[in-house]
Amino acid sequence: MDRRALLAGGAVLAAGVGAGVSALALGRDGGRASAPPPGSAVAGAPVPFHGERQSGVTAPQQPATQLLALDLAPAATSDGRAALRGLLGELTRVLAEAAGGTSADTRLHGGEPARFSGLVGVGPGLASRLGLNVPAPALAELPEFPGDRLDPARGGGDLLVQLCAADRWPLSVVAEQTGAAARAAGATVRWTQSGFLPRTAAGGTPRNLFGFKDGTANPDEDAARQWVWGPPGPYEHGTVLVYRRIRMDTAGFAALPGDRQNLAMGRRAGDGAPLTGTAEHDEPDIYAKNPDGSYVIPAAAHVRLSSPRLDGGARMLRRGYSYDDGPGDRGLLFCAFVRDPAQFTRVQNRLAAKDALNPFLEHTASAVAYVLPGVKEGGVLGEGLFA
Ligand code: HEM
Repeated sequence: MDRRALLAGGAVLAAGVGAGVSALALGRDGGRASAPPPGSAVAGAPVPFHGERQSGVTAPQQPATQLLALDLAPAATSDGRAALRGLLGELTRVLAEAAGGTSADTRLHGGEPARFSGLVGVGPGLASRLGLNVPAPALAELPEFPGDRLDPARGGGDLLVQLCAADRWPLSVVAEQTGAAARAAGATVRWTQSGFLPRTAAGGTPRNLFGFKDGTANPDEDAARQWVWGPPGPYEHGTVLVYRRIRMDTAGFAALPGDRQNLAMGRRAGDGAPLTGTAEHDEPDIYAKNPDGSYVIPAAAHVRLSSPRLDGGARMLRRGYSYDDGPGDRGLLFCAFVRDPAQFTRVQNRLAAKDALNPFLEHTASAVAYVLPGVKEGGVLGEGLFA
């Protein structure tokens, strides 16, 4: 696997989403991902579990995901730090076995390679309750945003686990193992959420349920080092996951004429190019104007309000998934990786104020977690939490 692809993985769409492989590669084009180099990943290659950083952030994005949030037993009923250590040990084992194909569970054998990857993160509440070593004060709960309709039962949590694979089958099995490990440690599963991506051509960007390519403007390696991963030091190989479950009125949006959809997004649905460009990976020029003085990318367009140019160049690594939980409840599982969730807050404040997509969106759940650094063979995730 190409090392650059491993580092900035969100720009990467895996083999298995499409027919072959595809690591969208990471050029040095203003900090954005650019065109894929040939042969940058190997189709069907297993994703190594061990490494400096967790594979759930760095591996090519897989077509299926399952998120689980776990709550530890209240402090009064257990020694929280010991329980957490034990649980992290079990989660390390479960994820390593799933990735390495060494699980004793026969349901994980005999099929096509699952290309399993995963991550474990620690919520801000648990970190402060147990006095854990996390990148404080960056790791904090998000503020409330205008228009939020958050269901606490679908968000938050002491630990966040994200499982990714080529299809849902291994996710279901590994989620069951995760739940068993949690119960053995006196923890409970607070919520789970599954998501998916469409089949996408090799090297392509998957579309969301509005029909737009989503994940185009992700950071390259240099930008990721500055904005996604921690600063040099103990948190260097950690990052923070911001999760938002966003219900989308897909029928309402689909009823808009195509040019209105494109103006709302600031990009064209067909090829994903910005309204100021001709190719998907052209940088949106938010200052370009029409002859009548209006902006080509309108004032309320999603890509204007989320532009790094309004935010000192800051980029987040977005690895979103679609979800479908029945009629009237489908949308986007927005998953972004950032060094500091304040970056998300700045962008979301701008979006909540006037994003042209807002009439079609409702944020229904939210979670934040410090994604632990990766682990060497024989090690246990989260060793640095207790140092
Ligand atoms: C359901 C809700 C959302 C949809 C459908 C959506 C869709 C999109 C699409 C289609 C793009 C352009 C292609 C790309 O660069 O990936 C985009 C870009 C982006 N979105 Fe969203 N998005 C949503 C929510 C959010 C939220 C909640 C945030 C953060 C608060 C966000 C931040 C961004 C950023 C940072 C970019 C890249 C801007 C750039 O660098 O040009 N999005 N989004």
